[in-house]
Amino acid sequence: MKILVTGGAGYIGSHTVIELQAAGHDVVVVDNLVNSSEIALKRVEKITGKEIPFYKVDIRDRESIDRVVHQFKFGCCIHFAGLKAVGESVFLPWEYYNNNITGTLVLLDVLKKNSCKNIIFSSSATVYGNPAVVPITEECPKGECTNPYGQTKSMLEQVMMDMQKADVVSSDPNPWNIVLLRYFNPIGAHKSGTIGENPNGVPNNLMPYITQVAVGKLERLGIFGCDYDTPDGTGVRDYIHVVDLARGHVKSLKAIEEKCGVEIFNLGTGVGYSVLDVVKAFEEENGVKVPYVIKERRAGDIAECYSDPSKAYEKLGWKAEYGIVEMCRDSWKWQKNNPNGFEE
Ligand code: NAD
Ligand code: WQD
Repeated sequence: MKILVTGGAGYIGSHTVIELQAAGHDVVVVDNLVNSSEIALKRVEKITGKEIPFYKVDIRDRESIDRVVHQFKFGCCIHFAGLKAVGESVFLPWEYYNNNITGTLVLLDVLKKNSCKNIIFSSSATVYGNPAVVPITEECPKGECTNPYGQTKSMLEQVMMDMQKADVVSSDPNPWNIVLLRYFNPIGAHKSGTIGENPNGVPNNLMPYITQVAVGKLERLGIFGCDYDTPDGTGVRDYIHVVDLARGHVKSLKAIEEKCGVEIFNLGTGVGYSVLDVVKAFEEENGVKVPYVIKERRAGDIAECYSDPSKAYEKLGWKAEYGIVEMCRDSWKWQKNNPNGFEE
C-alpha cells in the first residue's frame, strides 16, 4: 500500500517506516522537523537500502500538504506528527492545541478531499487518565487528562470518531476507516543502534534519563516517589519496545483493509515494571551503574498503568515480542553510540 507517514522523521515514525518498508509498503514521509532530524531518515535509508521520499512540510500548511497528498494516491495515512511533551504543554497550551488540533484538522480535511479516508492515529494511554483498574482494556472509560497534551489526544480521538459516525449516518459510499492506537510507554531503539529517541534538553521520560545518566551526561536519576501503592513503592508502567510498537502499525493496516470503521487498540506488553525494576534490568543487561536518588512524587503521576493488549492480538494478530532486557539493551546501544543524538 502507498502510505503517508506524518512525523516520520521522529522517534516512533522512523522505526515504523522501517517496518512498513520491510513489509513491502511504499512510504512517503512528511515532517516539519520541529522535533527531529533529517539524518534519522538518512539512517533509515541505510538500514532498509530503500529511498524514502521526504517532504519538509508542516501539516498546518494546507497548500503544501495538499500538494503531497494530491500527488500520491495514498491508501492510508499513519499520523504521528504532533508535539508530545506533557510538561511543556502545561506552559504552552496554545502551541499544543494549535499544532496538534489544527494540524490534524487540516490533515483530515486534505485527506478527505483527496479521497484517502483511511487513517491510523498515534493516541496514548494518557487518555485513560488515572485508571480505576489495571490492566486497562479498550473498554475502560477515558479519564481526566491533567495536561493540554493529553487533551489533544482525547479530543482528536473524538473528532475522528464523530467524522466516521457522520459517514455512517449519511450512508457515505466511502466512509472513514480509523484506527486509534493507544500507546503505553515506548522505549528501546532499532537494533542497529543508529536511530533512537533524541529528546531536546533534559529528558522528562524515564528511559532517556537513565541512558543519559549511564553515558555520563547527567549525574543521577531522580526517582519520583517511593510510597506508591505498588510492590516496591515506585511507579509501575507498561514499557513497550519501539520496534514492537512500529510493527503494531503495520498490523493495523489489516483493520483498515477490512474497512473497520473505528477501532481502538492498546499497544503495550501487558506487563508492568516499576522504576526500580527498570533501573535494575538496565544495570544488569548493560553492566553499567545508574546512580539514583529518591525524590518527591511528580505532579500528575499515577501509581500504576499497564495494558490488556489482548484485543490487538485477537483482531490483528499482533503482540509484543521483546521484553525489558531487549528494551534496555537497545536503548543503551543507541545512546552509547550517539551520545549527542543525531549530531554528526
Ligand atoms: P517525536 O517528536 O519524535 O515525533 C513527532 C514528529 O512529528 C517529529 O518528527 C516532529 O518534527 C513532527 N511534527 C510535529 N509537529 C508537526 C507539524 N505540525 N507538521 C509536521 N510535522 C510535525 O515523537 P514520537 O515519540 O515519535 O511520537 C509520535 C506520536 O506518538 C506523537 O503524536 C506522540 O504524541 C504519540 N505518542 C508518543 C508517545 C511516546 O511516549 N513517545 C506515547 C504515546 C503517544
Ligand atoms: C515513567 C515512570 C515516573 C522520569 C509519559 C506521558 C504519556 C506517554 C508516555 C505520550 C513514572 C518515573 C520518570 C524520571 C522517574 N507519552 N520517572 N524519574 O509519565 O508514564 O508517561 O510518557 O503520550 O502521555 O505522560 O512516562 O517515562 O515520564 O515516567 O522516576 O526522571 O518513571 O514517575 O513512574 P509516563 P515517564
